[in-house]
Amino acid sequence: MFVYYNGQFLLKEEVKISPFDRGFLFGEGVYEALRTYNNKIFCFNEHLKRLKFSLQQLNIPFNNFSNLENIIYKTAELNNIKKAFSVYLQITRGSNFPRTHHYEETIDPNIFLYVNPIKDHTKELNDGVSVILEKDIRWLRCNIKSTSLLPATIANQKAFLNNKYEAIFFRDNFITEGSHTNFFAVKNGKIFTAPLANYILEGVTRSIVINICKKNKIDLREEYIRVKELKKFDEFFITGTTTEITPVVQIDDWIIDKGVPGKITRQIQELFTELTNQSI
Ligand code: PDD
Repeated sequence: MFVYYNGQFLLKEEVKISPFDRGFLFGEGVYEALRTYNNKIFCFNEHLKRLKFSLQQLNIPFNNFSNLENIIYKTAELNNIKKAFSVYLQITRGSNFPRTHHYEETIDPNIFLYVNPIKDHTKELNDGVSVILEKDIRWLRCNIKSTSLLPATIANQKAFLNNKYEAIFFRDNFITEGSHTNFFAVKNGKIFTAPLANYILEGVTRSIVINICKKNKIDLREEYIRVKELKKFDEFFITGTTTEITPVVQIDDWIIDKGVPGKITRQIQELFTELTNQSI
């Protein structure tokens, strides 16, 4: 398998990363997960914009993006991937020796990316998924797409071990988002999702759903969903680059509406698919 690392296409076994890379020592890095539809990277500019924001917030001086799209396509080509694929891209601060909390601003960042065929998740899209609720113990800069993901991986592993798809976080009494998705709830035809703030990631798919709703005159409000009021809602769904629009049919032990995905969720799924089909 070929990957891309600091200007070279290498077999994954050939990549040599210093143990002093601060991504390895401190989790000092940022990342993006992208995907293709119809052989084209979907929303590349939106992902790039968020990546630049994350880099700037962490003061990582990487700015060589001019050939990035071609690098991604080339990596897929080298691996002979012809169908839809996802892209994982990360940039870490680089290495300094010895390990110190502070760093020289002159060290060179490391960029790494790989691509992988998208796994079929028709079943989840059709039938919906179960999720668990977990206390949000993440830091207060969740709007940065940082590789420091410990609370997210702990929560998602708990969901996984319980055969659930996702862990949905709450902070105080408010739902923020999932460990790797944004969260939406529907009540009387109105859609609710947490507002943009430092408590959630500005998901690219989240923004697409908001735009779809605007265009189709569907009432969407960026307002917090209270944990105590969850049972007043009719439908739920989660969004993400590979998760797309996935219905949620069970939260902890509560099976929502006999475990059947809701009408509005289906409508958003259809409008989303229309959009991705057009992406050429
Ligand atoms: N996760 N919220 C969090 C915390 C995320 O990690 C993600 C993405 C999202 C959805 O963002 P988008 O629609 O731009 O994919 C929301 C990626 C896919 C991951 O961690 O692999």
